[in-house]
Amino acid sequence: MTPSIQIIFASQTGRNRAIAGHLQAQLASRAQTVITEISQVDAFALTQADAVIIVSYTYHDGDLPDEAQDFFEDLKEVDLKRTKFAVCGSSSKRHIHFGRAIDYLTIQFNSSNGEQVADSVKIDQDPDDADYQRLNQLAQNVLASLA
Ligand SMILES: Cc1cc2nc3c(=O)[nH]c(=O)nc-3n(C[C@H](O)[C@H](O)[C@H](O)COP(=O)(O)O)c2cc1C
Repeated sequence: MTPSIQIIFASQTGRNRAIAGHLQAQLASRAQTVITEISQVDAFALTQADAVIIVSYTYHDGDLPDEAQDFFEDLKEVDLKRTKFAVCGSSSKRHIHFGRAIDYLTIQFNSSNGEQVADSVKIDQDPDDADYQRLNQLAQNVLASLA
């Protein structure tokens, strides 16, 4: 059966929205994908997908985006029952805590009993060719975990 993958993004200026779209294009031929903005996601329903990919920027002083806070708090109460996941996102090396939201999300998905199936990917601002390769590898790792 075709696996289902939920792609969840947080984006203020569009980079992470575009990355979510890139991942969807990578996955589309081999999975049913849905893209959802993070404030619209019910963390308690994450186990309905075969895999979840989170794409987020980092805000404030190395913190999660404001619109991701409710999702993150709910996630602490969720048993992901080994749902497969991967985390990635664009943030900026101009800030001291580069991509720290990626770290927080990766730790919490693991703590909530998810199964991490790809290394987390931090991208500095706009993705370059090497970043797209890392994103494509992440997508391939997610697909391989579902085969
Ligand atoms: C007020 C503000 C605070 C930020 N703080 C951080 C930070 O602490 N760490 C980091 O890596 N990036 C930080 N960033 C950079 C954003 O994460 C980065 O620009 C990202 O690419 C934005 O993604 P988006 O286009 O999807 O909104 C900050 C940006 C702004 C505007």
